[in-house]
Amino acid sequence: MRAFLADPRTEVLGSGSNILILNSPLPQVAQITAAGWQALIVGEQVYLTAEAGLGLDALVRETTARGWFGLERLAEIPGTVGAAPMQNVGAYGVQLSDCVTGLTVWDRARARMAHWRPEDCGFAYRDSRFKQEEPRWLVLSVGLRLSTRPPADWPPLSYPGVHAAAEAYSAAHDRPFAELTPADLAEIITRVRRQKLPDWRNPPPGSAGSFFQNPVVPAAQASALRDRYPQLPQYATDQPARVKLSAGWLIEHCGWRGRREGDAGISAEHALVLVNHGHASGAALWSMAQHIQRDVLAHFGVPLIPEPRLLGAGERPASG
Ligand code: EPU
Repeated sequence: MRAFLADPRTEVLGSGSNILILNSPLPQVAQITAAGWQALIVGEQVYLTAEAGLGLDALVRETTARGWFGLERLAEIPGTVGAAPMQNVGAYGVQLSDCVTGLTVWDRARARMAHWRPEDCGFAYRDSRFKQEEPRWLVLSVGLRLSTRPPADWPPLSYPGVHAAAEAYSAAHDRPFAELTPADLAEIITRVRRQKLPDWRNPPPGSAGSFFQNPVVPAAQASALRDRYPQLPQYATDQPARVKLSAGWLIEHCGWRGRREGDAGISAEHALVLVNHGHASGAALWSMAQHIQRDVLAHFGVPLIPEPRLLGAGERPASG
């Protein structure tokens, strides 16, 4: 097994929900199947360790059902616990890195195990050291800190769309906002996601969720874009000179939303989501993605970086 993992031709997959295979079938594939988890409760803190093969959504449901706060906004995201740190999955104002206490990893180059603290992981928006140094590190298990007590800003409803969904849920269940549980929040988030994103449990259409990252650009460029396009959503980042833009808006305003080329297409519900309506090849999807990159660059001067892992022989993006 050590030799198999050390072989650079071996691709280690989670559940395959965030990859695009560009061309030929992958020659060698490994998958971590260990899927246990355990928790230690110390006062109000819940110290949890989850193995890489567990589904992230399954973990969210297990923890929210017990009333533990922390993972509720990550409900309904496909993929495994082991893959989640790779791109530091995030949604509705929270990222996995917000509750990571440490990871156990396998070093494929040196065939040995290591324990990493959060500060070793290089976590950033949709980024990590695992992604930067891919394919060297394999995540074997993830340590998380959750809480039995709500955070001060509970319930977290500020993200667009979540407040409205919470109002409907609250009214239907006759439960005021202050009494919403982590499981209620997970359900509210699930409803918001299902309105916009293809059902990953029942393809077609297949998708990898957001196909591009939201671009982070210099503040001066964002300001010039705001003058010309006041409707373009812009978000502050933790770097004052950098601003995050909505890739979905940029793509929609290049006319791509709902467009279809054979079985490759862009979702009609969300312009950031590339969909495979049936039998589009990886190459066809990637060709359409590159067409979108060119259009957005030409219209807005903003480069888009693909968000899923692009695997297999063929052309790869310089930034991907
Ligand atoms: N928008 C459009 N047109 C579209 C889609 C979006 O104009 O077709 C604009 C709207 O103004 C909307 C805004 O973009 O209000 C934001 O859209 P949304 O709330 O869907 O969020 P997003 O920025 O497009 C990100 C993540 C999603 C995550 C949501 C919610 C990235 C690359 N994507 O999308 O993650 O679920 O926020 O937090 O950061 C994923 O990574 O696969 C994924 C689905």
